[in-house]
Amino acid sequence: MTSAITPRAVLLTGASGGIGRACALALAAKGFHVYAGVHTATPDLDATGITQLTLDVTDSGSVAAAAEQVAKHQDGQGIHAVVNNAGVLVQGPTELVPISEWHRQFEVNVHGPVLVIQAFTPLLREGGGRVVNISAASARVPFPFLGPIGASKAALESYSESLRVELAPWRVPVSIVQLGAMRTEIFAKSAAAAEMALTQADPRTVALYNRQLAAFDQAAAGQRYAPVGVAVSAIVRAVEARRPRARYVAGTDARLAVWLSRIPARLRDRVFERALGLSGIEPAPLPAA
Ligand SMILES: NC(=O)c1ccc[n+]([C@@H]2O[C@H](COP(=O)([O-])OP(=O)(O)OC[C@H]3O[C@@H](n4cnc5c(N)ncnc54)[C@H](OP(=O)(O)O)[C@@H]3O)[C@@H](O)[C@H]2O)c1
Repeated sequence: MTSAITPRAVLLTGASGGIGRACALALAAKGFHVYAGVHTATPDLDATGITQLTLDVTDSGSVAAAAEQVAKHQDGQGIHAVVNNAGVLVQGPTELVPISEWHRQFEVNVHGPVLVIQAFTPLLREGGGRVVNISAASARVPFPFLGPIGASKAALESYSESLRVELAPWRVPVSIVQLGAMRTEIFAKSAAAAEMALTQADPRTVALYNRQLAAFDQAAAGQRYAPVGVAVSAIVRAVEARRPRARYVAGTDARLAVWLSRIPARLRDRVFERALGLSGIEPAPLPAA
C-alpha cells in the first residue's frame, strides 16, 4: 500500500480482472488515486500507482477493514467516488439453479454493494463523493435462463434509486451504469458454474430443459460482445461528470434493452422467444412417475 493521498480518490471493487481492472487503469491514467478492491493483490498493478486492497464484498470484516485503510490514508479528505463493480453471473433454469447459487448471486451483486456503501458513506460525505453502481441490461428485460443475474441487477437498480434520494441531503449523487454484453471472463466462469450445477441436478429434470438450453446456447454463441472499453468510458464518465446522471447506458444491446423494456410485456416475451430460438420448441415429454 502506498501513502500517496489525493483529493480525487476512487474506491473500485472487483478490480482484479475484466471491466474493473480496465477501469482502475483508466482512472489512474486520468489522475485519480484508485483504491482497487481485489481478492488477491497482483504485482502487475503495483507499478501503476494504484493502491490494491484485499476486499471481498461479501465479508463485512473485509469491507470494514478496507474502509478503515482508505480513511487512514485519505486522512480527512474523504473520497470522490465508490464504484460498485464486483459481480458474478449465475444462470440456468430456476428449477436447476441450486439455492446456494441464488444466495451467491445476491450476496455478491446486491448485499456486497450495500456493505460497501454502509462502510464508505462517511468517506463519501467527507469528500463530496458519488456512488456508481454497475448494472446490466438483464435488469430491465426478461432474458430466460438469466433469472438470477437479472433479478440481482434489478434489485441493485431499485436499491440505487432509493439510495439516491437518501443521500441527496449530503449531495452524494448515485448513478447506475447499465451495461450490455462486454468481452470478459464473466461468461466462462458463469458457464462453468452452470455446468457444474447441471451435473448435480436430477437428470430427469435436466432432460426437460435440454431442447430450450440447446437453443439458448446456440443463440448465446452468436452474441456480439463489445470491447471492455465501451463499459470503461461510461463508468469514467459517471466518475468524472460535474453533475452525474442517474443512469448511463453502454453498449448497443443495452440501448436495445431500454427500448424493449418499454413495449408491452407479452409482445416483449414473444420477441425474446424468437430471438433466442425458443418459439415453437415443444416441451420434452414428462418422465414416467
Ligand atoms: N461483462 C459483461 O457483459 C457485463 C454486462 C453487464 C454487467 N456487467 C457487470 O460488470 C461488472 C464487472 O463484470 P466483468 O464482466 O468485468 O466480470 P469479471 O471479469 O468476472 O470481473 C468481476 C470481478 O468481480 C470480482 N468479484 C467477484 N466476487 C467478488 C467478491 N465476493 N468480492 C470482491 N470481488 C469479487 C472478481 O474477482 P475474482 O475474479 O477474484 O473472483 C472480478 O475481479 C459486474 O458487476 C457485472 O455484473 C458485466
